[in-house]
Parts: sequence; C-alpha cells; structure tokens
Amino acid sequence: METFINNNGENGAMEDIVVEISHIKKAFGVNEVLKDISVCVKRSENVVVLGKSGQGKSVTIQCIVGLLTPDEGSVKVFGKEVSEMSDAELKDLRTKVGFLFQSGALYDSMTVRENLEFPLTRVLKIKDQKEIDKRVEEVLDGVGLLDAVDKLPCDLSGGMRKRVGLARTMIVKPEIMLYDEPTTGLDPITSREISELILHMQKRYKTTSIIITHDMECAKITADRVLIMNDGMYIAEGSFDELKNSEDIKIKAFFNETT
Ligand SMILES: Nc1ncnc2c1ncn2[C@@H]1O[C@H](COP(=O)(O)OP(=O)(O)OP(=O)(O)O)[C@@H](O)[C@H]1O
Ligand SMILES: [Mg+2]
Repeated sequence: METFINNNGENGAMEDIVVEISHIKKAFGVNEVLKDISVCVKRSENVVVLGKSGQGKSVTIQCIVGLLTPDEGSVKVFGKEVSEMSDAELKDLRTKVGFLFQSGALYDSMTVRENLEFPLTRVLKIKDQKEIDKRVEEVLDGVGLLDAVDKLPCDLSGGMRKRVGLARTMIVKPEIMLYDEPTTGLDPITSREISELILHMQKRYKTTSIIITHDMECAKITADRVLIMNDGMYIAEGSFDELKNSEDIKIKAFFNETT
C-alpha cells in the first residue's frame, strides 16, 4: 500500500491525500503493538478500521494527532510529518483534526451548552455570541439533543453523553474526524443514527474520517473502504461487501467471529 489505490484501482492524486501513514512501528516495552502499518486516506473518504480488541487500532489513530510517536516510519497529515511539528503546528493540527475518544470525555461540571461552547471560544476564539448559539443549536439538532442543551452530563444517559461528545468534536467542523468506536454501548437505533450522522458529515462538509468500530452495521453504513487489522498489520482492504463476501479464510473467520 505504498500509493493510494481507490476502490476503482486508480491512482489518486497526491494532493488529495490528507493522511499518509508509512511503515510505522510502535512497541510499549516488549509489547510490539504496531508491526508495519501503512495507509493513505484521501480527502472526503471514510475509512473504517476493523480488528479484534487490543490490536493497536486506538494506538494508530493516536499517532495521527501526535499523542503518541511511532518508533519507526512516517505519519504525515496534510503533507507534513507529525513528529516534526512545532507546538504551534500541533495546536493548529488539532483544530483541523477532530478526535472522538473511545471514552467520550465531557466536562462534568459544565452543561451541555457550556461543553459545546468550550471548543468554539477556546480553540476557534469565536467571540460573536450569535454565531456561537447558532453553531450549538445546529450541532445539537444534528445529534437529536436540542432539548438537553441546559442539562449536566450526569443527568444524561450513556448514549446521550456519547452524542454530546460527538457534537463537541463536530462543532469545530474539522477537516478530518477520527472516531474511536463511536457507537459502542449504544442501542441499535441510536447506533444507526450516529452512523448516518458520520455519513452526513462526509456529504455535507466533505469531512475525511477514520472510523474504528466493532459495529458491522456502522461499518456497512459509513465505509468507502474497510481495513482489517490483525497482529499489528492490516491484513485486508476493500469495500465492506468485498470483504464480507471474501473467500479468504482469515477474512471469512473474522466476519464469522464478529457478526
Ligand atoms: N500508552 C500506552 N502505554 C502502554 N501500552 C499501551 C498504551 N496504549 C496502548 N497500549 C497497549 O497497546 C495495545 C493496543 O492497544 P489499543 O488501545 O490500540 O487496542 P485497540 O485495537 O484499540 O483495542 P480495543 O478494540 O479494545 O479498543 C494493548 O496491548 C495496550 O495495552
Ligand atoms: Mg481501541
């Protein structure tokens, strides 16, 4: 996977590639987590990463925003090597890359509105209250939680908190979204709504997304391309249907185990 190959097997133009990961390795002590990971993600593409627990899916996306640094290999975002970025460049990168953490992470003492205003005032430095109110309403409407605007996170269900976390990441309209298990712990209907929201972000804002999930329906709804991660490497790549219908024993086993 040296160069980007899209679903039609054509070479994509280099300027269309927003994330380029090339032969990265990462170990924690004796635990070799990433053994050889390479992938290119094109602008406005939704890439889904599937893989059993503990394979290094979260570690990989933490390397994209510079929260972790690979031991070897290269991670470029918008053409720039992340490990060589200055603090100012990293800060700028994090305004362009939204990261939905696996754990959600809301400020418990702030209302939903305050949680959502935070990135607008602190990160984007927006001062116009009308603009702030408009964005908060728009994004809450998107996740179906307009009624919850003045509630505290402790007064919300787990699924609602997850949706607020999603809204808080989406409110800055990042060019790239990294979703770490966006539907885990949600009921099937809410999961489907979140998956459709991810698709909507792609269509409306041309957002590029990397979506880590165990939820096959989420993968089916959102993916332009699916990667299967196993033992520190990507072992397969293709559309959801291509992989689901694959005759390859390893891939077949994977779909049978997880569906
Ligand atoms: N900061 C860290 N320090 C030490 N080990 C870590 C660190 N982060 C992750 N690991 C280890 O790396 C391995 C892969 O972790 P990772 O969280 O990427 O798995 P995952 O594929 O996202 O799994 P899951 O599907 O359960 O979320 C695990 O063995 C984990 O213990
Ligand atoms: Mg994980």
